[in-house]
Amino acid sequence: MTEGERYLPGRQDRAQYMRLDVARVLKRFHFCERPLIIAQAGWLSSIAPIDIKIALPRHFWQDALTADALRTRVFELRYPSRMLEVGEDEPVVSVFEDAIDAPSALAFVRALEAVYKPALLHAYQTYLAMADDIADGPSVRFLRMAVQDKQEQIRELGEFVQMIAATASDEEKQTAQAWVDALRESLERIGGLGIATPTAGGERKTASLRKPFHFAEVPARDPRFHQVRFYWPNVVDADFPYGDGLRLQLRSAVSHLNEVWAIETGGAILHAFAGDLDWEFILDAARWTYDEARHTKMGLDRLTGWGYRPDELPLGTYIFDSARGEPPVTRLGMLHYFETKNIGKKNDRAEAFASYNDDVSRHDMEFDWADETIHAHYGAKWLRALHQKYPSLPDRDSIHERCDALVNALVETATDDERREIRQIAEAMIQKAERLAQPATGS
Ligand SMILES: [Fe+2]
Ligand SMILES: [Fe+2]
Repeated sequence: MTEGERYLPGRQDRAQYMRLDVARVLKRFHFCERPLIIAQAGWLSSIAPIDIKIALPRHFWQDALTADALRTRVFELRYPSRMLEVGEDEPVVSVFEDAIDAPSALAFVRALEAVYKPALLHAYQTYLAMADDIADGPSVRFLRMAVQDKQEQIRELGEFVQMIAATASDEEKQTAQAWVDALRESLERIGGLGIATPTAGGERKTASLRKPFHFAEVPARDPRFHQVRFYWPNVVDADFPYGDGLRLQLRSAVSHLNEVWAIETGGAILHAFAGDLDWEFILDAARWTYDEARHTKMGLDRLTGWGYRPDELPLGTYIFDSARGEPPVTRLGMLHYFETKNIGKKNDRAEAFASYNDDVSRHDMEFDWADETIHAHYGAKWLRALHQKYPSLPDRDSIHERCDALVNALVETATDDERREIRQIAEAMIQKAERLAQPATGS
């Protein structure tokens, strides 16, 4: 400024933060969302209630979209730099990385509901309160969306906490409370998550409570359903037909419900490969898992809509069990192979449902078909990427052959008792369907 020169005033509220200042803040938000996405995916297999297993993938898919928008925006603001490092944000990011080491499912879900999602919500609201809608309009747009997502997630998570707490012991509840308190204190000590750079906080308060995460190879399943390994007789009994007419309506809905294994597998691979593959993999795997959760919900919704109670419905584990003890690439192969190998039949099924005037089965099958075409692409893309990065890994065809062999070997272990049990469940469902069935009415 030259002495005596006069200028127009530029000290206005919206000039409070410059381009690189906001890029630093948005980068911090991205690095806090990321470990929560991975933690939610990894925990899916350890959480029993089906409502939570279906809803969490939607939550972390929304989180992944926000994290992706944050990342893209940081690159725009820092052009041409494509560097993205945790750096000075380590104190706050490490508190978010604690999420996965929760001591129990109750503690994990409570922390999402009471600490992590509210911290992100508050951070986004604070950002929006200071953001310049003119210069930084693109950030404002996606963070408004993220605020809505987080508010809805927190409300739903409150219900999920009640669900899990209903069967938890007093000790589990106390541990969950201690976990939440320790996380809150850890966050406070570093100044929380917001516009300011976090301060170093020393050892985190969670140290004595953390339980190192292990992916649950034996999945927790909702006890309200009829627990089996093989979820329809034709899987283990060549004499039992896949069926048509109302048997096809039932078989297809039971198949959709039993895509619960695909939800758990989507979570497993997102968690397993998040560190090895690019960010884009996390984004794809989040969508993939969310899609499988929608397919499961399609089946559940049709079956309950026809009047079936959960205890009348078989919930099986055999495809998931087939990959037990295998490297994670086998689970990626399972999801790619078993989910997409029947893609060609889906249109025929949709036509059959149309001929029964079963609009809802047709509708679900058509949308499922569209999702599967995306998944076929995801599977091919990421199996190729893994093979390129680790040339010693088997190629796609060998992985598919291995998946086939593993599933066939497991099916061979079916006992006569299991065959009898699943036949009884299926026949009871068919009899009920015959009572409920009505003559097709022309549209
Ligand atoms: Fe699916
Ligand atoms: Fe799929």
